[in-house]
Amino acid sequence: TRALILVGGYGTRLRPLTLSRPKPLVEFANKPILMHQIEALVEVGVRQVILAVSYRAEQMESELKKETEKLGVELIFSHETEPLGTAGPLALAKEILSQSSEPFFVLNSDIICDFPFKQLETFHRNHGREGTVVVTKVEEPAKYGVVLYGQTGCIEDFIEKPQEFISNKINAGKLFHLIPTNRIELFSNVGIYIFNTSVLSRIELKPTSIEKEVFPFMARDRELYAFELSGFWMDVGQPKDFLTGALSYRMCLYMTSLRQKNSSLLSSETGIVGNVLVDPTAKIGNDCRIGPNVTIGPNVVIEDGVCIKRSTLLEGAIIKSHAWLDSCIVGWRSTVGQWVRMEGTTVLGEDVIVKDEIYINGGQVLPHKSIASSVPDPQIIM
Ligand code: GDD
Ligand code: MG
Repeated sequence: TRALILVGGYGTRLRPLTLSRPKPLVEFANKPILMHQIEALVEVGVRQVILAVSYRAEQMESELKKETEKLGVELIFSHETEPLGTAGPLALAKEILSQSSEPFFVLNSDIICDFPFKQLETFHRNHGREGTVVVTKVEEPAKYGVVLYGQTGCIEDFIEKPQEFISNKINAGKLFHLIPTNRIELFSNVGIYIFNTSVLSRIELKPTSIEKEVFPFMARDRELYAFELSGFWMDVGQPKDFLTGALSYRMCLYMTSLRQKNSSLLSSETGIVGNVLVDPTAKIGNDCRIGPNVTIGPNVVIEDGVCIKRSTLLEGAIIKSHAWLDSCIVGWRSTVGQWVRMEGTTVLGEDVIVKDEIYINGGQVLPHKSIASSVPDPQIIM
């Protein structure tokens, strides 16, 4: 089987982290987001993964090729000369996708979940139609693609981001009817699909939105089905999800699912509270209290007496003694000084130095900066 991953734009919404690494290579729970996806695809027998990219991707090519060779999967980069949206890339890769008549998977690159590829494929083959969209219930469905379907799963309508439609006063009649009642449970598109190759005849080689320009027509033709996801899901491309309080909540969901599947990866040393993921090369000092919901990357050094909750420490970060961190992302090779206190979704880019005794609340610090005075209110520090 084959899969196409929509890798797309630069991920400006994940700054300052994406100033140093392309979004799909930013580590979520110690593994690049894209590798979570590729590993799950390989597990169900995918042997060819097409990465649809619309920008220069040399760093991604060289880093990913190493990883994927180990997995025995072929990685094909499909370069766009102009951004082709979410459907155009399928037309660009038409030749490869139509080499076999088997159905293929398509994924947004900024989502993480308990990938249900096997069950999805079975469901898709059973209904026998052209495509299947994976859906889930979310808190604010109108921010996503809303999928309306009946008991059989046959999709009647697909409405991309109805919130935007409403604020634009387009199509409002239909949707006002739908949304304020809150009685109907709305399901959203999670960004995972499986298609028969016949879908390719619906898509032209030009910038096209699959959500707005392909799905509504497939629904009209009764060729699109919904598959409900069980388990957690998150869109890590939304800054609110990666960089705000949702991080901790969703991180917690991810950790819980990891614990159920593979508890040996989660640390249970003394001083560790709840779900904590520690790379084996990290060093943790004495009298620390780490957790819950903390991930510690390779070669991280945590000195004595440090307290960390709901945070991510990326590769090579150094946390000096008696620092106190809650809801922070510490970028690659950054140093946090002694007695520092950081909270409120503070994000340090790559190679940042926070001097001793500093207080930071909700700061987003660009790469290679040195912070020598406190930042009591949320702001971007350049
Ligand atoms: N190759 C390529 N070229 N990829 C693109 C392009 C492009 O021009 N534009 C976007 N992408 C990729 C993005 O990188 C992402 O992986 C995916 O396509 C979806 O684009 P987003 O910009 O992240 O869309 P969204 O998050 O607002 O909405 C989409 O995802 C939601 C779930 O997270 C839609 O599919 C919604 O229906 C869905 O609910
Ligand atoms: Mg997205």
